[in-house]
Amino acid sequence: MASGMLVRDLAPEVDMSGDVDIAEAMKRLAGKDVCSISDLTSGETRAILKLGHEVKRNPRAYRHALDAKQMVLMFEKASLRTRLSFEAGMNTLGGNAVFFDQTNSPLGERESIADVARNVERWVDVIVLRTYAHDTITEMAAHARVPVVNALSDFEHPCQALADFLTLEEHFGSVQKLNFTYVGDGNNVCHSLMLVGAQLGANVTVATPRGYSPDIEIVTRAREIAAENGCEIRLTQDPLAGAEDADAVYTDVCVSMGFEHESTKRAPIFRPFQVNEAMMARAKSSAVFMHCLPARRGAEVTDAVLDGPQSIVFDQAENRMHAQKALLLLLLGGLDNLSGARS
Ligand code: CP
Ligand code: NVA
Repeated sequence: MASGMLVRDLAPEVDMSGDVDIAEAMKRLAGKDVCSISDLTSGETRAILKLGHEVKRNPRAYRHALDAKQMVLMFEKASLRTRLSFEAGMNTLGGNAVFFDQTNSPLGERESIADVARNVERWVDVIVLRTYAHDTITEMAAHARVPVVNALSDFEHPCQALADFLTLEEHFGSVQKLNFTYVGDGNNVCHSLMLVGAQLGANVTVATPRGYSPDIEIVTRAREIAAENGCEIRLTQDPLAGAEDADAVYTDVCVSMGFEHESTKRAPIFRPFQVNEAMMARAKSSAVFMHCLPARRGAEVTDAVLDGPQSIVFDQAENRMHAQKALLLLLLGGLDNLSGARS
């Protein structure tokens, strides 16, 4: 951010009230990597969401905020939502997105990740990675002089969780003390949701089969953050008890990308964890149903729940774009350009 300038001078549309300081967050986040939700403080996460709401309300104010900025998406795995929401988001900020398909050529195979980083940083302003190994993302971040963003690894899906809590804030106003229940595999999506939930003061319950609990380091970190924010992280192996009194019930596929060889083994283990009408009946009558998508209809969720009145899955999908636009604006110092964009 240019010295001596305040964001409120440049961006009157951004609500500067309350305890969330977007200007401070932009100073701290400019040039940073987001490999994990742990790379963000609670205040930075709140700032991303606050700006996400603002960008969604007023997209035209930001349409030149990242003029001429270049983003590369390097994906080792399939994607619908993440790819298109990043591409559309960057284009509507005035920047450009280049998609680099790595599905048949995993990063680090043709040349070292460090060498890829040292090339790519010469052409682009931000690198967005979808990988199998989380280490691929942290290694790229260690070597690239431009921000690296995790667009899903085997360990986390931070952009998903940011959009999901943006959606919950939109629906409930505040997520403080909200009872958020995740049912299913303690996977990448679950990890990021636990961390964001803890940062925002939500009570997060995770119900998984034995042997599929979230990673212990994530649980420990989420509990430390939760203690700072007056909320709790609970683990259970009883899915119906986990859904009891929930404001939001969330699930994901039982077989994530890269684990397809475990499909037959996992199917019977995860059957009692299916989100169906009986499980939703244990939650509050006002509860919402959430899923990051893609869904395996009839496996982790029934059609009746996915297509039912409590489902907000397509709001989540839409909000991927708004949350990521806010993230890109903060990582690339995009709010600096707003006055020029409107003149
Ligand atoms: N939720 C999500 O990340 O979807 P895609 O795999 O389609 O990107
Ligand atoms: N857990 C899933 C999420 C897909 C968006 C996977 O990693 O395949």
